[in-house]
Amino acid sequence: MIAIYDSGIGGASVLLALRSLAPDVDIIYLADQAHVPYGDRTQADIRAIALDCATWLVAQGAVPIVVACNTASAAALGAMRERYPDTPFVGMVPAVKPAAQQSVSGVIGVMATAATLQGQLLADVTLAHAQHHTVVGQACHGLVEFVEAGDVDSPALHQCVAAHVAPMLAAGADVLVLGCTHYPFIRAAIAKAAPGVTIIDPAPAVAQQALRAARSQGALLVEHGRTDYYTTGDAAHLRWQIDVLGLPPGTVRATGLEAHV
Ligand code: DGL
Repeated sequence: MIAIYDSGIGGASVLLALRSLAPDVDIIYLADQAHVPYGDRTQADIRAIALDCATWLVAQGAVPIVVACNTASAAALGAMRERYPDTPFVGMVPAVKPAAQQSVSGVIGVMATAATLQGQLLADVTLAHAQHHTVVGQACHGLVEFVEAGDVDSPALHQCVAAHVAPMLAAGADVLVLGCTHYPFIRAAIAKAAPGVTIIDPAPAVAQQALRAARSQGALLVEHGRTDYYTTGDAAHLRWQIDVLGLPPGTVRATGLEAHV
């Protein structure tokens, strides 16, 4: 059993990639929808709520725990590993490395939340892999909320996407990194706003990494292909999102975890 965790439904982009690689693996998915969106919270706040989620996930016994949230990875991955040193965690890192390999113009756009752009992970990966590139970050306010509302194609969504993409195109970006796991669900809108630009979705690579981590733990990957969804928010809303976004069917329950303010 592999665990996937996000602030909301965005981590399901990793769930879809994992399911297509490993149809039989059992997956437990946690959406912390009592606190979504994480992106405009402080690093300390995100760390505290993400650690609560990690505690709940560790108790479920799934390995590895995939932190399928760039924002939580940036703020809390180190703290999670420190608190649970025996649990393997797989986190999200903005895909600046493949972007640098593919960019011809030398300008890479990173679409992410404000908190991810402020985090140390992006600075580290830029220093390691894109020192000679220009990395233009765009805090894409509002996009997580559109996806949470199941809106991946309205005129308002297209307008919001176009407004966020424009500054990166103006700076000369020829590659855009999806630095938030919600954004693969609006990939078509992003591609429409950025014709001819390469879009990088790290979900398939993260799914591969999760499988490798599971295998190295000796975890059973030939299971029953169950998907058990949990939310810290409203289970009926999550059930509706699963339907609207075409996610694998499964059980849907509320965790009963108490919300922070
Ligand atoms: N899917 C989360 C991420 O990858 C969204 C963060 C949020 O809740 O703002 O960053």
